[in-house]
Amino acid sequence: MDKPFCYGIFSLLAVLLASTGASAGEAPSAEKGRRLFNSPEFAGAVSGRSCSSCHPGGSELQNAWMNPNLAGQVNNCILGPLKGKPLDEDSPDMQSMLLYLRSLKK
Ligand code: HEC
Repeated sequence: MDKPFCYGIFSLLAVLLASTGASAGEAPSAEKGRRLFNSPEFAGAVSGRSCSSCHPGGSELQNAWMNPNLAGQVNNCILGPLKGKPLDEDSPDMQSMLLYLRSLKK
C-alpha cells in the first residue's frame, strides 16, 4: 500500500471529522495539542481559562519534555487552575497535548 496516499486519506478524514465537531476520530497531533492548549474548553474546563492563560504560547515550557511525569503534570494543571477532569494518559487529547508540549523543545 502506498503510504503517502494513506496519510493523505487520514489527514483528509481528520479535517472532515474536525470540521463536523466529531474530534474523537482525529489522530493525535502537535497541531491539535496546540489548539487544545489555547482552548478554555479543554478537558471539560469550567474556569474560563486555558493552558495559555498562564503559559502564553507555551512560554516557559521548553523544558517540559524532560519531565518524567509530563501527563501527570498536565493533569495537575487541568485539575487545579482549569477546573477540568483529568485525562487518561492514553486518550487522544492527552496524546496531542504531549506531542505539542514536546514540540516546544528548544
Ligand atoms: C493558573 C495558571 C496555570 C494554568 C491555567 C495552567 N498552568 Fe501549568 N503550571 C502553572 C504553574 C504555576 C506551574 C509551575 C509550578 C508547578 O510545577 O506546579 C505549572 C507547570 C506546568 C508544567 C511543568 C513545567 C515543566 O517544566 O515541567 C506543565 C507541562 C504545564 N504546567 C502544563 C500546563 C497545561 C498543559 C495546562 C492546561 C491544561 C496548564 N499548564 C495550565 C500554572 C498554570
